[in-house]
Amino acid sequence: MANVVVVGAQWGDEGKGKIVDWLSERADVICRFQGGHNAGHTLVIDGKVYKLHALPSGVVRGGKLSVIGNGVVLDPWHLMKEIATIRAQGVEITPETLMIAENTPLILPIHGELDRAREEAASKGTKIGTTGRGIGPAYEDKVGRRSVRVADLADRATLEARVDRALQHHDPLRKGLGFEPVDRDALLAQLIEIADHILPFAAPVWKVLNEKRKAGKRILFEGAQGALLDIDFGTYPFVTSSNVIAGQAATGVGLGPGAIDYVLGIVKAYTTRVGEGPFPTELEDEDGQRLGERGHEFGTTTGRKRRCGWFDACLVRQTCATSGVNGISLTKLDVLDGFETLKICVGYELDGQRYDYLPTAAEEQARCTPIYEEMPGWSDSTEGARSWVDLPAEAIKYVRRIEELIECPVALLSTSPEREDTILVTDPFAD
Ligand code: IMP
Repeated sequence: MANVVVVGAQWGDEGKGKIVDWLSERADVICRFQGGHNAGHTLVIDGKVYKLHALPSGVVRGGKLSVIGNGVVLDPWHLMKEIATIRAQGVEITPETLMIAENTPLILPIHGELDRAREEAASKGTKIGTTGRGIGPAYEDKVGRRSVRVADLADRATLEARVDRALQHHDPLRKGLGFEPVDRDALLAQLIEIADHILPFAAPVWKVLNEKRKAGKRILFEGAQGALLDIDFGTYPFVTSSNVIAGQAATGVGLGPGAIDYVLGIVKAYTTRVGEGPFPTELEDEDGQRLGERGHEFGTTTGRKRRCGWFDACLVRQTCATSGVNGISLTKLDVLDGFETLKICVGYELDGQRYDYLPTAAEEQARCTPIYEEMPGWSDSTEGARSWVDLPAEAIKYVRRIEELIECPVALLSTSPEREDTILVTDPFAD
């Protein structure tokens, strides 16, 4: 397979970092195609820990081209700080190794301010629990056709016109929230200063990638967040503001849909969620606490405690369908070691009716009761297993049952954060 999309198949934090790193070793180009620095990927390479938010994981590996596609919203000040941190760890980042699409919309300081002010003002039930990074307001401006984009940084007159257009919208909005109007000149000065740092990386990414594709180069699309946070197919309105599902990989960089050869869904062996919103299998008891502690379930970007619950096969079957997942990578199976009984959600009950998918309305989602199937757990450790024979019989049964219920095969099984602790069934890059 030439090109592989990696997509989170739950609410994010499925363990994409390890798998993306493993696949990026064999890819020529690694692209981010949606989201922004709300994401958090931790990579451990030769004992060194790299924390990435906006940069594609490929930057830490030599000889690769890393791409930030137009589907992303980019905070240029954050990016330059992240580049400085990664450079300080000995990684070379140059315009030959990193390209930013010229048509990428920028996240401005006013977006973060607006994001946080709205969250603070929100009442119970309307709070989203965003990362406060300005992601939502920046996407709103993109769709509202008032973004400042990377290419606009190259010309002073264009930049002024774009800033004025944005402020025409933001100043009245800010007034309503009790904020001062934006200091136009200060914002322009900030943008002009950062332009010199960003523009060397700017490129017509769609063109470069189409050429790479023709030359037979392998492209890895690195998804952020998870399909249940997708703006269209997630648990709306408790979602992020971009399309997260695999189809976005093509539009988020400027390749045709035929460029995607394989979609790898990353699936955690249980379920977690950060932020507000429905979560039918959430456990607010000892079992939930145990999953959180054993799984170290704290957000990489915000440090927030993640909500934990049983595996929801109904939801993952749904996300595998909307992303056209060819195979899954099942992660963190070892966190389930020692549970006497495991539960898997196979459907929902709502108003006396059984559903084999999550109803669309938020109000209905919040009232869905999970229908569980129980399976015996295992007492032996699965941590670090590298082949099926290393796994207890009950663990294998659990994995096989998940495959049946989600109607998708396991391609990879990850049994610890170490890259070698992986059972490979299907190599997504194999011909
Ligand atoms: P935003 O993307 O900052 O607007 O946040 C919207 C929702 O997406 C919130 O519930 C966040 O907690 C969630 N979210 C955003 N990025 C991530 C991520 O990388 N992992 C998990 N959840 C995320």
